[in-house]
Amino acid sequence: MENLKPDELPNILPGQSLLGKEWHGLFETKVDFSSKHFKKAMLNLIREPNINSTVILRADILIENDYIDKSFVDKASDHIDLPNMENKENSVLTKNIDDTTVRTIPLSSNLKLVPALEIVRRIIPRNPFKDCIINQTCLLLQDSLNDDAEVTQSLIVYVAHLDDPEDIPFYLPCVKAVALFFDKGSLSVHYLPFDIEEVQKWKPTDRPVRTAYRLLKTCKKHSEGVMSGYEKRVNHDLIVPKEDFQNRYISLKRKYSKNLVDNWKESTDPRKHVFEDLAIAAFLIELWSQKYPSKDSFQFRDLGCGNGLLVYILIMEGYHGMGIDARRRKSWDSYPESIQENLLEQVIIPSVLLRPHPAMIAVNPYLTDNGCIFQVPVPLKHIHDTTSRSLIDSNVPIMAYYSSATLLESPHVNTAEFPPNTFLIGNHSDELTCWMPLLRFPFLVIPCCSHALDGSKARFPPRKVKRNDKVQPTSFQSASSYAGLVDHVEDLATQVGWKVEKEMLRIPSTRNAALIGFDCLNPETDGPFKSIYEILAMEGGAEGWVENAMALSSRSPRGH
Ligand SMILES: C[S@@+](CC[C@H](N)C(=O)[O-])C[C@H]1O[C@@H](n2cnc3c(N)ncnc32)[C@H](O)[C@@H]1O
Repeated sequence: MENLKPDELPNILPGQSLLGKEWHGLFETKVDFSSKHFKKAMLNLIREPNINSTVILRADILIENDYIDKSFVDKASDHIDLPNMENKENSVLTKNIDDTTVRTIPLSSNLKLVPALEIVRRIIPRNPFKDCIINQTCLLLQDSLNDDAEVTQSLIVYVAHLDDPEDIPFYLPCVKAVALFFDKGSLSVHYLPFDIEEVQKWKPTDRPVRTAYRLLKTCKKHSEGVMSGYEKRVNHDLIVPKEDFQNRYISLKRKYSKNLVDNWKESTDPRKHVFEDLAIAAFLIELWSQKYPSKDSFQFRDLGCGNGLLVYILIMEGYHGMGIDARRRKSWDSYPESIQENLLEQVIIPSVLLRPHPAMIAVNPYLTDNGCIFQVPVPLKHIHDTTSRSLIDSNVPIMAYYSSATLLESPHVNTAEFPPNTFLIGNHSDELTCWMPLLRFPFLVIPCCSHALDGSKARFPPRKVKRNDKVQPTSFQSASSYAGLVDHVEDLATQVGWKVEKEMLRIPSTRNAALIGFDCLNPETDGPFKSIYEILAMEGGAEGWVENAMALSSRSPRGH
């Protein structure tokens, strides 16, 4: 008790709930927001219960009866299918989820409240193999259904569709109903217990009391946030619906995560990589299901695939494709043969840097390369004869020379000339990031480190946000160099004619902006577009890129 601050001790006397004698009031606090702010904040929390609990993934809305707008929506039948769990032996846990009838609650006859909104939501926990999926009624009752300004009392009630206290999942307080009551100038939290005598014995440190305190705090904070005009800056789920992404992610996590984490071969953190790549795979699978008619109608290429984990998951899920990286990783040997043969240790050099310019071909149609010579320092570890070593010791660098013609023929070089039905993936692919939209295939790029087209480290200024601009619905804009890189890749893509779609991915990384190019802009209305040569000229050329890329294979990989 001594660890609790004074405001953490229940301050409503037992048996004095304004809601009626069946109710038990716990905490009350003074507030200066209005019922309008309370309502907006609470409706957001009803739709996004994950804000209040890390155990909860999301809520699916089954029924929504709005008595103010007179709209009545029943989507219960759309949600008969539970999260798409492909593993039939282990099905998800559920309790009474066929019961979708709106629940009611007893209320003191002194309160003149009428239903403004009735919602039945299905709560999906993060791990539905461990915690139960349940249905819950959420009620909004008000003393007026007229203009918001006339509302002085507003009550939010949550009722789980469960009648036995034993069935209440641990992520909810074990009571019949929870209520948050806004009564102009004050906010209070109340429970409708299964057993009122049990409740009288609760101590302030007991879990249900602590939960009530937390609920009140969150409600107050969010209502104050609404009052001060706080708008969430970043919108997710613009391309792939949240439910589809999350169901796919749960399913992939169940299938692969344990095995991958337990058998991690790299020195990097397995949990970060495994969960991030599972989430990216879930997003790609759902994106592709929108864009392609079948798994057989396209192939992917993961450029700069690193440890090959994403390639592994996608091929295991039945997609066709390959991963390419200048440096093979330890993990590659641990994958099944069918994956290993689709991981290529090759240096990617876009063909435009080796093949002749169209103007040269016009003069000489038989030309196959641009005649360039590239000079790359040879690292000491690759030099075995003693004369050369002694030259190096006396600071004379040893150089290797490659011509465009030999690079075009080399099995260790990949010119990114893929079949026409290819989809490119560039996940934190560093030097390749800005190249991704220029390679003429549909793509998904998740930028991370900032490099120019010549491979050197570069900073791009973020687009200016004008003072009067409304916050963008998907704001990739901030003053950071990361925002600058994302903006720059988008600009390059748009200039060559891609209609760019943007999504903030639900991945455990702050570098989670994804840019997708699938459809083309209209050349009549949005063009003319630039050729890759014009882009190279505008960006200051790509001199040094081949040399940098060739040198990559002799450097040890960067862990991200
Ligand atoms: C930061 S790592 C990311 C690896 C992986 N995509 C991931 O997210 O874990 C960038 C990778 O791009 C590879 N890379 C960069 N430029 C390349 C090029 N020109 N050819 C082949 N691989 C390249 C690097 O070798 C490195 O493995």
